[in-house]
Amino acid sequence: MRKVHIVGNWKMNQSLADINAFSETIRTMNDLKCEAWIAPQAIHLNILQEKSNTIKVGAQNCSNQNSGAFTGELSPESLKDMGAHFVIIGHSERRAIFKEDDILLNQKVLKALENKLKVILCVGETLEERESGDFKSILKGQLLNGLKDISASDKESIIIAYEPVWAIGTGKVASPEQAQEVHAFLREELKAVEALDAQATPILYGGSVKPSNIEGLLENTDIDGALVGGASLKGESFKELCELSK
Ligand code: 13P
Repeated sequence: MRKVHIVGNWKMNQSLADINAFSETIRTMNDLKCEAWIAPQAIHLNILQEKSNTIKVGAQNCSNQNSGAFTGELSPESLKDMGAHFVIIGHSERRAIFKEDDILLNQKVLKALENKLKVILCVGETLEERESGDFKSILKGQLLNGLKDISASDKESIIIAYEPVWAIGTGKVASPEQAQEVHAFLREELKAVEALDAQATPILYGGSVKPSNIEGLLENTDIDGALVGGASLKGESFKELCELSK
């Protein structure tokens, strides 16, 4: 049985005052059935962790190197040292704005795994790609290239997130049927990755998830949780998302 994961991606948001208010609200989350994770800005990892012991914290990105002359980069080794539990790799904003390609993303995945961080590998198509008809081959490429050369010992450290770019921050959530169809496709493709157990690998959905639509999404056999942007910023809605996720 795959455990439901509710993961908040705070992107470049949240002041210290916001973090204090968030932590105060989620302090009362007890007996959660799901994994509740948040990726704040990396500079806030420790402060969020100290204030919110009901959640696990992680990063939104990391370097493909542990150390060296890489000004401004985030070392996966240092993230691990500082208590990060996981890292998100290949978010569509990293792919589109920072031009990260599958080769670099695969190097990041391998380096994060080497440092015993769990990896949330994101895949997703743009509206143009979806309308072109063959968007599934794009998703397959992102998935299999991203996971190249992982080993069987990493089996339990991989989580996939399907985030259709057209549903991110737009209020246009993929319908549960649309999401389930793609998740089933991704699970089928995961069977080609020998190191993984496709049935046991969590596949999260991301794109305008909120308390009002989470239950419909989670009713589907291949949807194992959510990667949430906007609705994870307020303690009340993050808490509600977690409580609705059984
Ligand atoms: P929204 O939930 O704000 O659409 O963002 C989704 C996302 O990009 C999470 O990584």
